[in-house]
Order: sequence, then C-alpha cells, then structure tokens
Amino acid sequence: MTKKSNSSLILPSEITPQHFFENRRNLMKVAAASTLSASMGEWFTRDAVAQSVANKLNSTPNVALSVLEKKTSYEDVTSYNNFYEFGMDKSDPKQNVKNFQTTPWKISIEGLVNKPRVFDLADLLKLAPMEERIYRMRCVEGWSMVIPWVGYSLSNLIKQVEPQGSAKFVEFVSLADKKQMPGLGSQVLSWPYVEGLRLDEAMHPLTLLTLGLYGEVLPKQNGAPVRLVVPWKYGFKSAKSIVKIRLVEKQPANSWWLANPGEYGFYSNVNPEVDHPRWSQASERRIGDDKGFFGPKRKTLMLNGYADQVGSLYAGMDLKKYF
Ligand code: MTE
Repeated sequence: MTKKSNSSLILPSEITPQHFFENRRNLMKVAAASTLSASMGEWFTRDAVAQSVANKLNSTPNVALSVLEKKTSYEDVTSYNNFYEFGMDKSDPKQNVKNFQTTPWKISIEGLVNKPRVFDLADLLKLAPMEERIYRMRCVEGWSMVIPWVGYSLSNLIKQVEPQGSAKFVEFVSLADKKQMPGLGSQVLSWPYVEGLRLDEAMHPLTLLTLGLYGEVLPKQNGAPVRLVVPWKYGFKSAKSIVKIRLVEKQPANSWWLANPGEYGFYSNVNPEVDHPRWSQASERRIGDDKGFFGPKRKTLMLNGYADQVGSLYAGMDLKKYF
C-alpha cells in the first residue's frame, strides 16, 4: 500500500519510529512541567507529569497497514471535528467536551452472539496488542486528513463474543446523554447516533477499534474513550464514543441514512465516481495542506486508496445503487 501512496511529500517524521517521538514528546512535557515548577510550585509539576503519563498509549507501528503520507497536525486533528452531540460547528466539540465523563466506560456487545458480554476500558486495553496505523480519512463533506490512530482490528473484539450464523450486520451505538451532550437538543439527527457495517466489513483487518491517536488516549472530541475507524468509507461511518455493538440479521438503520436516505447510503464507500446529490465527490481538500477555498484540490481515490485491500468485499455490486 505504501508504494501505491499518491503523496510525494514525505517528511523525516513520517519514517522515524513513532516511539522516538512519543518519548521525545513525553520528555518535553516533563521538561516543560519541571520548568514551570519553579514558579508554580511542586504540586503543579506532579499534576502535569501524572497527566502526561496518564494520557500516553503505547503501541507498535503497523507499517503494512499505514500510508506514507504527511500526517495532519495534532492541532487540526483535535480541533476540526464533527461530533454533533457536542454541536454542529467544527470548533464546537473541542469547546463543549470539557465536562464529558469518559471514565469509567462500558461497552456492551450483544445480539446474535453466543457469548454476549460487557467490556470495560481495562478489558479493551488488554484485549489485543495496540497498533499505530496511519490512515487516510475522507469526510463526505469533501475534506480529508491523515491520522495516526491507535487501536487494533475490531475483529479481535467480535471474535470474543462468537457471532452466530444468522448475524449478517453489526450496529454501533454511540452514547446519548442529554446531561453531558448539548447537541442532543438538535433535531438534525435521530439520537443515539447509530452506524452499521456488514459483518464481513466489520471483520476486515483494516476496520479499527480505536482507543487513541498520536500516541495518546483519544481526546474527547475525537470520540473518547472508544470509537470505530473505517478508512475506506466516509468519516460518518466511524462512530464515536460507542456504548453498544449489536450483531443483527437485517441492515441497521443508521442515523445519516434516516436523516436523508437519498443523500447518505448505508455503504458510504468513498467513491469519486458517485457524487453526492448536492456536490461532486471527485476531489478533496487535505486539511492543513490544500490551502484556501479556491485553491487546488487533490483527486479522491477509489475506496479512499484502499481498493486493493477491500475491493473484493464489493465484487459484482453496483456501487451506484449501493452507495
Ligand atoms: N460519531 C458520533 N457519535 N457523532 C458524530 O457526529 N460524526 C462523524 C464521525 N463519527 C460523528 C461521529 C463524522 S461526520 C466524521 S467526519 C467523523 O466522526 C469525524 O471524526 P474526527 O472528528 O475524529 O475527525
């Protein structure tokens, strides 16, 4: 996949082992905290160091499943977000998540499975080795990012509960808590936020159960503490802050499809040949790199560049019909 990357710009930071940067970032945090201690007092230092250690999430780079493209900055990844439970502007989630309680957290896996089970965060953290995977992400709105996620294939979790033969789809349900999520007052979507995948899509190795990014636990605005990332589909398939996963027989009614079935299909595979009814999907603007509203954009790739890995999932299907 790395050979097929369409990026010509590779920075040294993209080919240097992630742990080096993690260690350096943590050292810098500790150093910064120590410098401050001179003026702010010993208690502040201890607090800052504890915080930097608490946020760290160790992982091993999975180079085979990563793209060699310039990563979108941490700042852009964590401040330009869609998380409608916290507001509709891109800057709303970061501003409105401050009091969002993401620990303790439980996620229930149920439905057509032999061993339904509730997992807490500690269970998820030790279920499989954490990997860092740098994925290309494409939003249905026409912008894209390259994000170093941390997690492991969702298949690890699904195998634990033993799907029954009748299970054909997987439904993902996000938290909906009016006390914590000011966006739930809006009628723009039906709540809770629900997404769905076919079981074979959910079991594909690229489908990532995601607990972190940039070597840290997920920031709240990015869907803490656990979310989905499906890199060959438009970003809205990647449900955030998941509390329930149900294995079902029939295709789930996902929130965006319910809101507008003519505009948001169940599959929502990135496809430059199938336009959104109101705009073209042939090109995209990479956040932080393709500057200016009228500046040049880059071509969107079939299945977001992951066609070699996932194309066979759709063999023989009319992707204009099943958009
Ligand atoms: N999940 C929930 N629960 N609520 C949302 O509004 N927005 C989706 C997806 N997951 C959304 C969600 C959309 S439209 C996108 S593009 C991605 O999250 C954005 O993820 P990011 O902010 O981490 O880049």
